[in-house]
Amino acid sequence: MPKKKSPQQKERLPLDIFPEPIEPEIKVKPPTHKVWTENKAKLIERYLLYFVFITHHGTYIDGFAGPQDPQKPDSWAAKLVLESEPKWLKHFHLFEIKKKKIKMLNELKRRQPDRDSKGRKVNREVEVYPGDFNINVHKLLRSASIKPKEATFCLLDQITFECHWSTLKALAEYKPAGYRKIELFYFLGVGWLDRAFSGQKKTKKLEDWWGRDDWDQLLKKGPFKCAMAFVERFKQELGYKTVMPWAIFERKGGGRIMYYMIHATDHPDAPGLMSRAYDRAVFHESYEQLQLEGVFSPKPK
Ligand SMILES: C[S@@+](CC[C@H](N)C(=O)[O-])C[C@H]1O[C@@H](n2cnc3c(N)ncnc32)[C@H](O)[C@@H]1O
Repeated sequence: MPKKKSPQQKERLPLDIFPEPIEPEIKVKPPTHKVWTENKAKLIERYLLYFVFITHHGTYIDGFAGPQDPQKPDSWAAKLVLESEPKWLKHFHLFEIKKKKIKMLNELKRRQPDRDSKGRKVNREVEVYPGDFNINVHKLLRSASIKPKEATFCLLDQITFECHWSTLKALAEYKPAGYRKIELFYFLGVGWLDRAFSGQKKTKKLEDWWGRDDWDQLLKKGPFKCAMAFVERFKQELGYKTVMPWAIFERKGGGRIMYYMIHATDHPDAPGLMSRAYDRAVFHESYEQLQLEGVFSPKPK
C-alpha cells in the first residue's frame, strides 16, 4: 500500500506566489501549505517561537495591536505571542488608537501570569501606548530603550493604509550601522486595494502610506506586482537584506490572495524560519517536539 504523505511532504507551492530570495546564500524552501486569513496570528506566534529559540531574548513591537475581531481572541496576534511559551521575549510595546481596544490590551496585560506553566518566574515588561502608532513609535525610539544588540520584531498589521512610510523608515533606521535592523512584518491588503484606493477621498492618507505622491502606479499592477513594488522599496530604500512576501489566502485550501505579509530582515536564518512557520502555522508543534527533532537547542543556563 502506498505510504500516506505527511503534511510536510506535499507538493511545494509555485514560486510566482513565493519568490525565492535573490541572495544565493539565503535558502528558503517554498512552503507546501497555504495559510489562510484565520491563521495569520498563528503564523506570527509560530515564527516568534522559532525567533526566541535562536535569540533567547527579544523585543516585540506591535504597531496596530488591538484585536481585529474582539469576538475571536484566539486569532489575536498580541494575545497569542504574549501567551506563547517559553516566555523568553522580554519587552512588549503594544500600540493602539481605539479606546475599546486599548482597554482590551490593558486587560490582556493585567491577566499575564507571574509564572509560566512550569512555575518559572516570568521576567518581562509589557507597555501599552494609546494613540496613533505613527506618532508614538517615535517616543519609543527616542527613549532608546531598545539596545542595538536586542533582537527586535515589529508587527505592522494595519487595516489598509494606516502605517506611514516614514514610520517604516524610522524603524528601519533605528539601529546603528553594523547591527541587525528591527525586523518588519508588514500587512499589504492587495485583495481589496483597488476598492480601497477608489474609496479614498483624502489622497494625503495614500501619500503618507506610500511615502510619495505616485501611489497611483500601484493601481495598474496586479496583487503580486504590487507586493513586489513594496519588496523592492524595502530593499532599496529601507536597506533590508532579505524581503519576502508571504501570501495569505481567503479560506482553507486557497481561494484568492487576500493580502501579503511582507517580511523584511537582515538575519540570514530568519527567512527559513518564516518558511517553516508558514508551513506549520496550521499544525500544532510543541516545544518538546522541536527539541526532539533537534531543530533548536535549549536555552543555555
Ligand atoms: C487589523 S487590526 C490588528 C489585528 C491584530 N493584529 C490581530 O491579530 O487581531 C488593526 C488595529 O489597528 C488599530 N489602528 C488603526 N489605526 C491605528 C493607528 N494609527 N495607530 C494605532 N493603532 C491603529 C485599529 O483600531 C485595529 O485595532
